[in-house]
Order: sequence, then C-alpha cells, then structure tokens
Amino acid sequence: MFMTRGRLAALALAVVAAPSPAQNGPDGLAVGRQMLAEDNPGELWVERGQRLFFEKRGPKHASLERCDLGLGAGRVEGVFAQLPRYFADTDKVQDLESRLMTCMVTLQGFTTDEIVRKRFGTLDNDSDMEALVSFIGSKSNGMKMNVPLRHPKEAQAYKAGEYLFHRRSGPLDFSCATCHADEGKRIRLQDLPNMTDPAQVQAVVATGWPAYRGTQATVRTMQHRLYDCNWQMRLPDLGYASAMSIALTSYLNHRGNGGVVQLPGVRR
Ligand code: HEC
Repeated sequence: MFMTRGRLAALALAVVAAPSPAQNGPDGLAVGRQMLAEDNPGELWVERGQRLFFEKRGPKHASLERCDLGLGAGRVEGVFAQLPRYFADTDKVQDLESRLMTCMVTLQGFTTDEIVRKRFGTLDNDSDMEALVSFIGSKSNGMKMNVPLRHPKEAQAYKAGEYLFHRRSGPLDFSCATCHADEGKRIRLQDLPNMTDPAQVQAVVATGWPAYRGTQATVRTMQHRLYDCNWQMRLPDLGYASAMSIALTSYLNHRGNGGVVQLPGVRR
C-alpha cells in the first residue's frame, strides 16, 4: 500500500496511542512469547537433531544409538529430566551436552576440539550440538524434572554450584545472585528470573533451555546461556562443559525438580 503522509501520521499516532510493552508489564511480553511458542521455530532443530542422532557419522561411521545418556544405551525418553547425573565410565557428573560430547568422541570418533569449535551455531554453520540437545530435550516433554542427588559426586557438584551462584567475583564484583535472586529486577525490558524462587527456577530449567532465541534466530543451549551470563559478569570465558558450568547446571536443574518439561523453550 502506498503511504501518504496523512496515512503515515495516522499510523504514527496509532503506534503512540498503543500501550507500550513497558506499560503493559510482563503480560504484554508474555503474549508475544505465547505466540512464538505456538509456532516454535525450535521444532526445526528438533527434527534435525533426530536425524543426526540416528545417522551414521564421524570417522567411526556410527550413530548415537549406543550412547547411554543415563537411562540405558540409545534411550532418549526422559533423560533430560534427570540430568546432570553421575556416570561411572567417565567418573564424572555430566550434563546433556558434556555427555553427548563423550558419546560423539568415543562412539563416533569426533575430536573434543572439533565439537567445542562448533558448539554454538553461526549464521553460516549450524551446530549439531544445538540440534541434538533440542531433540533429546523434547523427549522429556510432559515429564517432571527429577535430577538425582544420590552419588557423592552429584552432591558435590550441587554444593559447588550453590557456592558459585552466590559467590561474588570478577571486576564488577557480581554473583549470579546479584541479578537472579530478587523479585521484579530487570535489565531494560528483560525480566530477570528470581532463581531462589522454586516456581521461577522450575520454569527456567524445565521450559527454558534449549531455547529458540528470537534475537539470535537460532536455538541456544544452557551451556550457551551460562557462557553469556558469565560474560556479562566479565569473568574469563566459561569453558564449554567445564566443571564450573556443570556445577551451576546441577544446582539449577536439581532446584528445578518438579517442573514439567516443555522444550525447546522460546526466549528473547
Ligand atoms: C548482570 C546481570 C546478570 C548476572 C550477574 C547473571 N545473569 Fe543470568 N541473565 C541475565 C540476563 C539479562 C538474562 C536474560 C534475560 C532475558 O533476556 O530475558 C539472564 C538469563 C539467565 C538464564 C535464563 C533465564 C530464563 O528465563 O530462561 C539463566 C539460567 C541464567 N541467566 C543464569 C545465570 C547464572 C547461573 C549466573 C551466574 C553465573 C548469571 N545468570 C548471572 C543477567 C545476569
């Protein structure tokens, strides 16, 4: 339609008259999120992840069907809801991403360097990890988060995560709690979830990550989210699948127990 000046002015007025998201409060944003969730582009990552999981790949020409993500070889249903957890073969607590990395190295013959280099997708290169995590995460949909704290190393990881969440450090002297432990905090228009509140941490963990991020036009994982917040604190880069990242995820995910999984999420 050709825009006359009059029409433009009318349009401008209508825009000014419409309530801004800020006046609308979180509800206005929630409506937008709901609309995106109903038509979640993350589904494309789920489909690609499913294909990748069953495809014979890597130097060893193997699929991931022999990968044990905690509930037996090849089983993907329900595994996300119980991660991070302790794995005897690596003698480590692992989250979904570090466990997938173990399988991609041992079963498929990829190198750790290669996987880490491609951990976050770019406009030119999709990340297999982001797709696999979307597929596997979605296979816990409808189930409750139920992260175990039975093994001593699981308890240790949780404790370390709790400590890290509250410990102030870096040039800004921020802790995670500086931004994520109070009601009603926000940065610009972004509400900061209060992760000391069980309902809010459940929502973050069970319906958050992997998430389709509108601003990045791609799916991002929890490792990426933590990397990003770590950067916001001006700390040295958070190592992919590092002990620190897993400790934080153990703490958050365990505290998210009871939340009903619905993934991939949709985020700004
Ligand atoms: C300087 C403030 C700040 C600090 C410190 C910070 N974050 Fe964040 N965090 C944010 C912002 C901003 C967002 C994104 C909110 C948005 O865009 O909707 C976010 C989002 C998140 C999310 C996703 C929330 C959701 O709704 O899905 C998680 C999880 C998270 N942060 C964890 C952490 C952890 C763990 C730490 C400590 C290592 C941390 N953050 C430190 C500002 C911070």
